[in-house]
Amino acid sequence: MTDAVHGGSAELAGSGLRYEVDGEIATITLNRPEKRNAQTFATWSALAWIGKNLPEQVRVVVVNGEGPSFSAGLDLRMFTPDGVPGQGSFASAAATSRTAFMERVTAAQEGFLWLRRPDIVSVAAVRGHAIGAGFQLALACDLRILTSDARFCMKEPALGLVPDLTGTKPLVDLVGLSRAMEICLTARSVGAHEALRLGLAELVVEPGQLPSAVDDLVKALLSVNRDAASATKRLLVAAGGNTLEEQAALERHEQWGRLQALFAPPN
Ligand code: CAA
Repeated sequence: MTDAVHGGSAELAGSGLRYEVDGEIATITLNRPEKRNAQTFATWSALAWIGKNLPEQVRVVVVNGEGPSFSAGLDLRMFTPDGVPGQGSFASAAATSRTAFMERVTAAQEGFLWLRRPDIVSVAAVRGHAIGAGFQLALACDLRILTSDARFCMKEPALGLVPDLTGTKPLVDLVGLSRAMEICLTARSVGAHEALRLGLAELVVEPGQLPSAVDDLVKALLSVNRDAASATKRLLVAAGGNTLEEQAALERHEQWGRLQALFAPPN
């Protein structure tokens, strides 16, 4: 049964997001298809709210977009003098203090960072365009399934900006520094099949098959022991920053925790 919105109607109002929880699965849908799911600061605070209030039973979070595009990125009204109603413009942001701007972007980034938490697996289901903040939202997720018409583009440098919604590290981690530079500094589009080849996607399917491909992946993820999955995710995430010996020690530590949980006699 779907527990729609999960008490967050007020926090999600005006965010352009739909949020549903069904048992161990949470689904976040960018839901402004008529504007190609363009994102605003309200979108990012709502994402952060969802992360902070995610029910404990949730193990998999699916992020998708309504309509033909996953997301056209930042709402371009931010570049206009009037900006986005109630949220200002880039010009008004530039006129505030550095501290105020840092706080605002930190809050926006919180909407992305929680998607990498070890207690969940996040899956981006991407059809059509994922541009700028849209590409970064897909990169914030652990896994990506793309339709064959999907296109990633890190448009920010072409607009005079930098990607600042946590996308630069996962991009470099996935494709390497040189390829990340080439993709960002040309602001070119990366099609689905190239994305698969570069490691930016786990799977590419025909557009009609996206829902069933996501369902299959979610079922497979849920078929594994929950705590073992979290511990393994912690190991895999730590691997990049560890020496082989440090990683081996971490494996021992996590396995001890597993054995205690599974086999230790009750006190
Ligand atoms: N912001 C606001 N409105 C947008 C939008 C955006 N980013 N992208 C599309 N729209 C609106 C269009 O203005 C149009 O509205 P109207 O019907 O009222 O005219 C509607 O959505 C449909 O747009 P299109 O007709 O262009 O749709 P399409 O399917 O032909 O093309 C698209 C889709 C390729 C995504 C194209 O809309 C596009 O290129 N959009 C702009 C993408 C962009 O430059 N985004 C900024 C990225 S940078 C960023 O995100 C910055 C950051 O993180 C800091």
